[in-house]
Amino acid sequence: MKLWVVEDYQAMSRRAADVLAREIKRKPDSVLGLATGGTPVGMYQELVRMHREEGLDFSRVTSFNLDEYVGLPAAHPQSYRTYMEENLFAKVNIDPRMTHIPRGDAPDLEAECARYEREIARAGGIDIQVLGIGRNGHIGFNEPGSTAATATRVVQLTRDTVEANARYFDSPDEVPTQAISMGIRTILAAKRILLLASGSSKAEAVQRMLEGELTPELPASFLRQHADVTVVMDRQAASRLPAATIAGTAAD
Ligand code: GLP
Repeated sequence: MKLWVVEDYQAMSRRAADVLAREIKRKPDSVLGLATGGTPVGMYQELVRMHREEGLDFSRVTSFNLDEYVGLPAAHPQSYRTYMEENLFAKVNIDPRMTHIPRGDAPDLEAECARYEREIARAGGIDIQVLGIGRNGHIGFNEPGSTAATATRVVQLTRDTVEANARYFDSPDEVPTQAISMGIRTILAAKRILLLASGSSKAEAVQRMLEGELTPELPASFLRQHADVTVVMDRQAASRLPAATIAGTAAD
């Protein structure tokens, strides 16, 4: 794993956007795996800036998001589809037909999961997958207990995750308790992985991901099985790593 410890959220966002921009320039028809949550918002802002000011071209890019809440129609204000429209898709020249997010309101959820896996395969697989990390070490919505063999499926969210996401909803009982998520196997099949972590609430998960046991109890630990993972984290997210580990990483 390649580790970058940078000063703060802004530096993390810039570094992450830079990695994606290089990928798009190297391969204009890249297949991007995209993430939601609070962490990548700054990265998307920077990508939008690069598009507007530097002409970063998304016209041939394909995207697949990691996950979507079960029960929310695409147009719901808290759906991940809405998040992606607001943060990126509506602000760059990506072809809307090339953007993929599982449909949380699909009548047959199992069929939707299978369809999603097929679409990823049909696009030739994911070139670079962006990930955040949950406080409990989840990636996508692969909660503790998810094995390395999991594909896109319906998952039950843990209480911790529902609580963490409640801030986006008007009341706690509106927060969905299920989601469709790419599996660990789907994520590990991406050619490259870029994981972002910011803030002290992620420090323990980051430490266990890098130094703990390889276990379904900390789904992000499986990333150590992948040959090309870059972790960009700010100082707070890196605060539980040994000084020697931090010193050995590329500084900002
Ligand atoms: C959410 C998402 C994940 C995200 C994680 C962390 O529930 N499904 O993809 O990485 O939790 O979110 P945040 O970046 O807001 O801390």
